[in-house]
Amino acid sequence: MTDYVTVDDTETVLRDGTIKLHGPTGFEGMRKAGRLAAEILDAVAPLVQPGVTTASIDDVVRQMTLDAGAVPATLGYRGYAHSCCISINHVVCHGIPSDKTFKDGDIVNIDVTPLLDGWHGDSSRMYLVGDVPLKARRLVDVTYECLMIGIEQARPGARLGDIGAAIQAHAEKQRYGVVRDFCGHGLGRLFHDAPEVVHAARAGTGPELKPGMFFTIEPMINLGKPAVKILDDGWTAVTRDRSLSAQFEHSIGITEDGCEIFTTSPKGLHKPPYAA
Ligand code: MF3
Ligand code: CO
Ligand code: CO
Repeated sequence: MTDYVTVDDTETVLRDGTIKLHGPTGFEGMRKAGRLAAEILDAVAPLVQPGVTTASIDDVVRQMTLDAGAVPATLGYRGYAHSCCISINHVVCHGIPSDKTFKDGDIVNIDVTPLLDGWHGDSSRMYLVGDVPLKARRLVDVTYECLMIGIEQARPGARLGDIGAAIQAHAEKQRYGVVRDFCGHGLGRLFHDAPEVVHAARAGTGPELKPGMFFTIEPMINLGKPAVKILDDGWTAVTRDRSLSAQFEHSIGITEDGCEIFTTSPKGLHKPPYAA
């Protein structure tokens, strides 16, 4: 039994496990926050080059976010002290920006979440550094396909599990592993809210999707097995078998006849290569 609650301008920000159903104000807020997230991901594309530090990308993300009148939601989130996550190669997610530099052949995920006028735009994309081997480029392509196939399932009347089922089927067809330890999530005025959007599921299970639901889809797909472990820094998640991992993330809202993607790239930089 799933509870839904309709929210409006006067909403109190509850975190009570119910799935919120937003109206036009929410869609307007998410469009703006999502667009900013996408613009930031567009802006960093030319910067992902050999020798560039991940901390310098974090600086650009922070400055661009603040310049737009927003705040990076990750800054200070549960003790996290950075403006984005940068996850390279076998890092699955939550890679911490540092003085580490990109190397030729790396695959990189950058994940940003600007909080603009009270709304969270959460999105990530993969970037390729120099010459990336075919095997890694295929993983990146299929992971993007997984995200978009998941989004295709998102419409009123479908079940949440239809999304994970479609993603899992597509990934496992290529013998890739779907990460189970991290999920997509409801968002809006809150960064992480109900529902949990798992990326491996059974079709026809889970809550029914309804217009006004906002959530992310953010599959993490491994070249090897699904298992991850967290490093001693308490954040960095890596594949247990050290295989490469890729991820893309969009924030979406369920509409009357499908869904709206809030974080589409204005420059058409949907997936790499982002040739200049
Ligand atoms: N942006 C991530 C997500 O997609 C969350 C990062 S939380 C952090 O949900 F603290 F690690 F930054
Ligand atoms: Co997210
Ligand atoms: Co994110």
